[in-house]
Amino acid sequence: MEPTAKPELIVEPDEAAMVKAVAALRRGELVAFPTETVYGLGADARNEEAVVSIFAAKGRPARNPLIVHVKDLETARLYGHFNDQALSLAREFWPGPLTLVVPLRQDAGLPQQVTAGLETIALRVPAGKTALDLLNGFDGPIAAPSANRSGKISPTEAEHVEEDLGERVAMILDGGPCSRGLESTILTQTGERVALLRSGAVSAEEIIRFLGSEDQLIIHSESDTDPERPVSPGRLASHYAPNARLRLNALEPREGEMMLAFGPDAPEKVIGVNLSPAGDLAEAAANLYAYLHILDETGIDTIAVMPIPDTGLGRAINDRLQRAAAPRPEEEQKDRL
Ligand code: TXA
Ligand code: MG
Repeated sequence: MEPTAKPELIVEPDEAAMVKAVAALRRGELVAFPTETVYGLGADARNEEAVVSIFAAKGRPARNPLIVHVKDLETARLYGHFNDQALSLAREFWPGPLTLVVPLRQDAGLPQQVTAGLETIALRVPAGKTALDLLNGFDGPIAAPSANRSGKISPTEAEHVEEDLGERVAMILDGGPCSRGLESTILTQTGERVALLRSGAVSAEEIIRFLGSEDQLIIHSESDTDPERPVSPGRLASHYAPNARLRLNALEPREGEMMLAFGPDAPEKVIGVNLSPAGDLAEAAANLYAYLHILDETGIDTIAVMPIPDTGLGRAINDRLQRAAAPRPEEEQKDRL
């Protein structure tokens, strides 16, 4: 390999770096930045060429819309129509790992590629300090999917971004490991109620507690994995996939496997890692992608994954693991993000 052409691709997000990042975004370049969930691949959401280059860098299908990150609710309302319930959810959970899909304003002024031509827009105010500093410095909407190639594991460290997309970005702001480690929860308003489009770092239980009753939240039980009509394309079957195969609900590894363990009952002395020896789901969520990266880098064929309780954050963890374990589509029909 050549010596690195861009020696300072990964930078500490100090004041000088933030000025450079803002300038790069204004020039229409891509800047990877940490959020509390995962690293995002950011571009000026108003700049059509910049937005198109996100899709090219990720190898992402054009019909899969992006999340627009904004600095506050007031800014979000320039782009989407919020009903009372969406407003109250935003006030409760922003800044934070919740994305709201709301009707797109006709005067939003964003290129149609951002929303993949839909009449709705996904908006979020992230909580991470670097993300908020960047949004405040840039003072505009930043379209940002997770900073990984389509279908691959999401990045929770700057190095993950460099490995996957290093050649495509102007810079990577290094905020250390993401504190939540799982993507934002995506909700949409549907009349009187809200529907969960993607489980994530805010648990369904937390949302139900806030809404006041279970009937207020629609959780689709059927799997909407029909690629002809993706409700939220991130829910397609194969996704978040390491190179290794995953064997779920394994109590111990088979010959030649490594283990992704969870909790105090993990078998002793097996080769692998434990997402949370104490059995803490928030800790497991924060470690999930980083540990999948570590196991994958060993070149192992199969990762044996211990069962994870399907409550709270465990639901989002299991959702990701199931997609990571799903049969992979043929390379030529890579319809994943
Ligand atoms: O935590 C996160 O949400 C991270 C960080 C960077 O903010 N972003 C992220 O983006 O996970 P991405 O592109 O990997 O996933 C966004 C999801 C996709 O499943 C996309 O289909 C869905 O949001 N989405 C975006 N706009 C939508 C819309 N108008 N209606 C339904 N789903 C939408
Ligand atoms: Mg993603």
